[in-house]
Amino acid sequence: MSEESHDLELEPLMPSPLSPVTRRRALLGGLALSAIGIGAPLSRSFAAAPRSLTAGPGEALLLEKGQPKTRIWLYDGTSPGPILRARQGEEVFVRLKNDLPQPTTVHWHGIRIDNAMDGVAGLTQDPVPQGETFDYRFTVPDAGTFWYHPHNRSWEQVARGLYGLLIVEEAQGGAQHDRDIAIVADDWRLGEDGQLDEASFGHMRDWSHAGRLGNTLTLNGQDRLDIPVNHNEYLRLRLCNTCNARILELRIEHPGIRLVAEDGQPVPPRDLIDGYIRLAPGERADLFMHMGLDPGSTAAITEVSGDQRLEAGRFVYHPTNRLAYRAPPVLGLPANPLPSRLDLGSALAVDLLMEGGAMGTLAEAVHKGETKGIRELVRQGLVWSFNGTAGMAEAPLFAAALGRTVTVDLRNDTRWPHAMHFHGHHVKVLERNGQPSGSDAWKDTVLVDPLESAKVAFVADNPGKWMLHCHMLEHQAAGMATWFTVGI
Ligand code: C2O
Ligand code: CU
Repeated sequence: MSEESHDLELEPLMPSPLSPVTRRRALLGGLALSAIGIGAPLSRSFAAAPRSLTAGPGEALLLEKGQPKTRIWLYDGTSPGPILRARQGEEVFVRLKNDLPQPTTVHWHGIRIDNAMDGVAGLTQDPVPQGETFDYRFTVPDAGTFWYHPHNRSWEQVARGLYGLLIVEEAQGGAQHDRDIAIVADDWRLGEDGQLDEASFGHMRDWSHAGRLGNTLTLNGQDRLDIPVNHNEYLRLRLCNTCNARILELRIEHPGIRLVAEDGQPVPPRDLIDGYIRLAPGERADLFMHMGLDPGSTAAITEVSGDQRLEAGRFVYHPTNRLAYRAPPVLGLPANPLPSRLDLGSALAVDLLMEGGAMGTLAEAVHKGETKGIRELVRQGLVWSFNGTAGMAEAPLFAAALGRTVTVDLRNDTRWPHAMHFHGHHVKVLERNGQPSGSDAWKDTVLVDPLESAKVAFVADNPGKWMLHCHMLEHQAAGMATWFTVGI
C-alpha cells in the first residue's frame, strides 16, 4: 500500500504466519467408521439422462459429537458434495439445480473441458438464478483427481461448504490398489456458537492479507476422520485442499507413502519425505500407501502449518484382520493425453506481475479501463493487481493461436503466497527464481511464494476464454483475476 493509504482496514498487520487452526474437541474415544471413498458411479457413456446436483442450504456436524450443527451450503445435502465418478473419455452429464439464495455456477477444476462448460460466471456463462437449472455436459480427457465448486462469489460459496470431488477413472491400467480413499480438507471460520462467521465475509482485512483463514479443520467434513484399514492393504489416497486460502501442510505419520499424481496428472512415483506434503488451495495429490503396520495400530494425519501439530484424522487398523502380503503393485499411473511437446523456441512469452496486498507497494491500478488510486480501489474491494490491472479487464491478458506454446513468467512482487490457477489447461513449471524447477508435473494450480518467480509453459490447445487467477479466493475477488483466449 502506498504511504497515504493506510486506513484502518489496510494497516499492515504483523507479517504473521498463518493463524493456527484450533479445535474444541476432546479426544475421541470410540472408533467412528465413516463412509469414505465410495462414489456413486455416474451414468456411463453418453447417457441421455443427467445426474442431478442440487446446491442448497442445510446443516452439517463439523464439530465433535454433541456440539451444534453448523448451517452451511451443500451439494445434495452433503459437504463435501457427492463424489462424482466418471471413466476417462466418457461423458459427464450433470444438471445443476440452484436452491441457494443467490446465483451460482459449477466449475470443474482441472478438467481440460469444453469452454462452454467451464462454469465461470460472467465469462463462459451467466450465473444460474435461484430456482433454476443448468446442464453441464462434457467429456473428461484425463484420468485423475479433480474437483468441482461454484465460480460465482466463490469466496463466499466455497467458504460456506460448496465443493466436491470429480474422480475420473483410468480408461485402462489404473487400479492396482485395493481401495480408493478420498480426503477433502477444509478450514472453516466458526464463531463460538459453532456457526459460520458471516460478519467477516468480504472483510478487507482478509482480502488484503492471506485470505479467509478458518479456525476449524475438517477432513471430509468431519472434526476428526477415522479411516479404518486392514493390515497389508494397498490404498490410493486422493487429497484435495478446498480451503479458501490456507496452504495446508499435512503430515501422514505412516511409513511408505508415495506420491503418484499432482493436480490429477500422473508423476513419476516418489516417496514423501516424513509423510509431509504441502497443498495450496485447489491443489490435489494422489498417494499410494502400503498399510504395513500391525493390526490394531493407528497412524495420525496431522496439519502442521500452525504452531501446533493438529491431529485431523487417523488410520485405524483393524484389531485382528491381516491380508496376506502381496508384492507391491505397479505404482506408476498411465500418462494422460497431454501435449507431448512444448515448442519453447517459438513460444508466446507473457509476463505476469503480481502486486498489492498488505505490506505491498501498490499505489494505483487500472480498473474497468480507468486508473484509480489505492483509496478508490479499496473502496471497491480491490487491493491486488496483475500487470497493473485490478480485476477482470475488457481485454484478455493474451490471445494465443490454437496449438501455440505459451510461457508465463509469474512474478510475485507481494508479501503473500499465491496459488495461480489456469483454466482449461495444465502447465509445466520450467523455472523457479530463474533456476530449473526440477519438476515435470503438469499442474493446474501453481503456488508462487512471496517475492518468488515461476516460469510456466503450456500448449494452448483448448479453444475458448479461460480464466487465470489466484485460488486464494479473497485474492481473486480483490483483483487477482484475468483471462486469456485460445484460438479466437
Ligand atoms: Cu478452482 Cu477458477 O477455480
Ligand atoms: Cu493470492
